[in-house]
Amino acid sequence: MNEKQKKNAAKETLKYVKKGMALGLGTGSTTKFFVKLLAEKNKKEKLELTCVSTSNKTTGLATDLGLRVMGIDLVEKIDLAVDGADQVNDKKELLKGMGGFAFLKEKKVDYKAEKFIVIIDESKKSRYLTEEILIEVEPAKTTEIIKKLSEKYKGEIVQVSNHCVPRETENKNYVISMQLHSPIKNAKQLEKELDSISGVKANGLFTRDCTVIIGTKTGTKTI
Ligand code: A5P
Repeated sequence: MNEKQKKNAAKETLKYVKKGMALGLGTGSTTKFFVKLLAEKNKKEKLELTCVSTSNKTTGLATDLGLRVMGIDLVEKIDLAVDGADQVNDKKELLKGMGGFAFLKEKKVDYKAEKFIVIIDESKKSRYLTEEILIEVEPAKTTEIIKKLSEKYKGEIVQVSNHCVPRETENKNYVISMQLHSPIKNAKQLEKELDSISGVKANGLFTRDCTVIIGTKTGTKTI
């Protein structure tokens, strides 16, 4: 869906890539376009890039295409991270995770980067954040966390559910989802609150500053 728009966003992002950079690579169908185009550019222009990946899937793709991938702890800094999103609001806050459940590593990589570019198609841009919030949790604490969330956000929640149990993430955790009745009001605060719950490993709210490149049928819009 919206393949052309995703590809246009990915192509525009190449303009920010410079020789010798350390790049963070996100996960998902939009990022996949970027990784493919990046590998071509890297080969053609001998850019000597170092990449840090956010999932086994992205690592596999990047290395197959000849990109050098290193662990996050082995790079001092990440110059630029490029990643997709499920929804982006007017304040450029994001909901992430649906396209691969890789948001735990995405958050580490995207937040470590000096610059963060989010690439999306037009369907992902919304005035407010209204989609479900994904939360990666320690398996043994799953039911306890669901109970806690149901109590803490009573009245605001439509449902908290096991999203993909018994499917695990590649970090051997579970993912649950939380759907609110109303658009998210204070994303920064909610991101912190969710992270502070014991057993929560990461959540799909991303509120660091970023540049958003929206692919359209004919080109891109950058916000
Ligand atoms: C992966 O964990 C996600 O955060 C994706 O980056 C996000 O869901 C967007 O995925 P698509 O580009 O496949 O829509």
